[in-house]
Amino acid sequence: MKLNKIAVIPGDGIGPEVIIEGIKVLKTIADLDQRFQFEFTYFPWGCEYYSKYNKMMDEDGIEKLKEYEAIYLGAVGFPGVPDHISLWDLLLKIRKSFDQYVNIRPITLLNGAPYPLKDVKREDINMLFIRENSEGEYAGAGDWLYKGKEQEVVIQNSVFSRKGTERIIRYAFDTARREKRSLSSISKGNALNYSMVFWDQVFEDISKEYPDVETSSYLVDAAGMLMIKDPKRFEVVVTSNLFGDILTDLGAALAGGLGLAAGANINPEREFPSMFEPIHGSAPDIAGKQIANPLAAIWSASQMLNFWGYESYGKQVLAAIENLLIEGKLLTPDMNGHSSTSEVGSRVVDIIKAAFKREETSR
Ligand code: NAD
Ligand code: IPM
Ligand code: MN
Repeated sequence: MKLNKIAVIPGDGIGPEVIIEGIKVLKTIADLDQRFQFEFTYFPWGCEYYSKYNKMMDEDGIEKLKEYEAIYLGAVGFPGVPDHISLWDLLLKIRKSFDQYVNIRPITLLNGAPYPLKDVKREDINMLFIRENSEGEYAGAGDWLYKGKEQEVVIQNSVFSRKGTERIIRYAFDTARREKRSLSSISKGNALNYSMVFWDQVFEDISKEYPDVETSSYLVDAAGMLMIKDPKRFEVVVTSNLFGDILTDLGAALAGGLGLAAGANINPEREFPSMFEPIHGSAPDIAGKQIANPLAAIWSASQMLNFWGYESYGKQVLAAIENLLIEGKLLTPDMNGHSSTSEVGSRVVDIIKAAFKREETSR
């Protein structure tokens, strides 16, 4: 039996509430299939940890995490600890230390999901965002000069290396080719006259290696508008770190809300662990009430199953989420329901078990 070791960082706010539900699902899958098991090791890092020990994670935290192939993370950040400290010392530190340079965020409208747009069909919203996740606007480089003085200046630098830009764009082209879908690049070369001019050039150069992939290039402002007016034009999408962050929250809103949007932070070379997380944050406004939607966390568990090579189970988990939405009975308040976080998670588990039973009897 194969043992898959997962490091779990439940984190802050609703993080622990939703992660438990994802773990329920992963355990269910492993129990149904005796060929593999998951071993979960919990790390209590986050803002509470910071308030006790004045650090977001252990000094050797990154070393500790290297023992795992996958990390399952809830959310990081909570009032009381400045966001730039909590995020840079935990979430962003992990993404960077483990060179998780690909952030895969599906924006897919599932049947039954509530959505704000009129006149769209399910198949009109099916985007796969590939967000650069290691540099760009998140390089963390800058300066703060003459603090408090009249001539105060703050500089936040972006870094777009050739290596970093080429590898994410190539990854996106490979994905589009494999999935036989078009690829859109979203940038802003008209105003960002170094970084995005370079990005556009690299995109154009690499596109020549992929004559079979249909491409488009958009300015980010127009892309934001078109995602709402004509979402079906976007299939595979590649974009920079910051634009990807913003546009995937927008995309989440189109496809059922933040409670239903998942992300995988991948180190494709598998030299380091990859990390799976919902794209939402710690939601301090609803934390501790057992009303957070666990479906994003469960969807990211499905991405993890794909990562381990258990794609049929990854699909099955996504199908269970969709069936729960179609049933429409057990939903959290963000989806106009009245159920608790754990009721929703348990229903997903029951749907998976029932599907497995049906398959067994039909065999
Ligand atoms: P947020 O995503 O936490 O919340 C935005 C809104 O969406 C809130 O009204 C919240 O209640 C709602 N929401 C989010 N997830 C939900 C869910 N699963 N179910 C139901 N409703 C949900 O964003 P924010 O309020 O801007 O940030 C809060 C904190 O989280 C900040 O410290 C921020 O830096 C951090 N953050 C962390 C991550 C991460 O760890 N990956 C991501 C985003 C924000
Ligand atoms: C996300 C989050 C993070 C990001 C924050 C919390 C640093 O918003 O994962 O989308 O900007 O990448
Ligand atoms: Mn975000």
